[in-house]
Amino acid sequence: MKTEPLIETEPVYDVELISISKYYGKFAAVDNFSLAVPRGSFTTLLGPSGCGKTTLLRIIAGFFEPDRGTVRIRGKDQQGVAPEKRSEGMVFQDYALFPHMNTAENLAYGLILRKLPPEERRREVQSVAETLGIEGLLKHYPSELSGGQQQRLALGRVIILKPQILLMDEPLSNLDAKLRVHVRDELKDIQKRLGITTIYVTHDQEEALSLSDCLAVMNKGRLEQLGRPEDVYMRPATSFAADFSGPANFLTINGKRCLIRPEWIEVQEADSRAAPSSLSLTGKVKSADFFGRVIRLRVEIDTAEGRGRLIAVDIPSGLPGEEPRFGTGSRVCLLVRHIWELPADERAEAT
Ligand SMILES: Nc1ncnc2c1ncn2[C@@H]1O[C@H](COP(=O)(O)OP(=O)(O)O)[C@@H](O)[C@H]1O
Ligand SMILES: [Mg+2]
Repeated sequence: MKTEPLIETEPVYDVELISISKYYGKFAAVDNFSLAVPRGSFTTLLGPSGCGKTTLLRIIAGFFEPDRGTVRIRGKDQQGVAPEKRSEGMVFQDYALFPHMNTAENLAYGLILRKLPPEERRREVQSVAETLGIEGLLKHYPSELSGGQQQRLALGRVIILKPQILLMDEPLSNLDAKLRVHVRDELKDIQKRLGITTIYVTHDQEEALSLSDCLAVMNKGRLEQLGRPEDVYMRPATSFAADFSGPANFLTINGKRCLIRPEWIEVQEADSRAAPSSLSLTGKVKSADFFGRVIRLRVEIDTAEGRGRLIAVDIPSGLPGEEPRFGTGSRVCLLVRHIWELPADERAEAT
């Protein structure tokens, strides 16, 4: 596992998890998990459903006590500290909207508790509603909002409090694809502008890669890899981290398990005089799937390195009316431009 610092200067950590374990009966939902979250960073817990993300986030918020380990928030041990006493500025995003309050009242609720004067309150409500594109819905009740609008309102209720530490559990999961990207960009923008230390939970790799400063890949309750998104993607520490952070081809080359991302491969006609590359493979296209921007080819390899294996590789889908260069049945040569050798010491079970 990499030990380089994630940021240059010695960081201040807002949240520190030290060897946290949480059991349900004998089952370890969180298993000896350690992580330090730098102040102002966007730190993401990325992992498949059931790997312990929600459990860990709730431990940070104080809804559960861990069975082992220590949670420190801004340097203070949180053992026995109730959620509402944890840190003035820490907010756990709660999606439960008040059904009897309209959008404006839902947004203003936290500010009323903080005794903000009405004039200021209205200004804040208006500004947050505009940021999230729900300013036209201020008089609507939650039952009159779509799932996506409700999710934006839930986000607004949190952002309006200007939290110092924000905990979010899959906040964009109900949004349709286009809105998801829009709200994601808004969220990142607000987070950076306000310098909110954010711990974000998702199983969506694209979301995790595009939002995060620090990415913690989780597997079966354990930390699989911690790093910047580009490090995890380009130089994964394990097969699991490789596979969960993006499309991955695995090949054994000279007895070593190697990762080849689809975009590290150039596709040529099988008989072309290819420019030298570290590895070239020949094979036949088994399938060609249209993804919009690219066409994903699955190529059955016939050279020794990967005989019989399917390698995924993307080619541009090109302009309307243009025939793609390769389709099902084409014979191709794959020039592998880059290979990442997975560290030899990775856990045997991570396949
Ligand atoms: N209250 C509970 N009792 C027993 N098992 C639980 C309970 N809550 C969660 N689990 C189990 O713990 C594991 C982690 O759950 P969770 O933290 O919700 O994962 P994630 O959020 O990554 O999907 C899962 O296998 C889940 O089934
Ligand atoms: Mg969860």
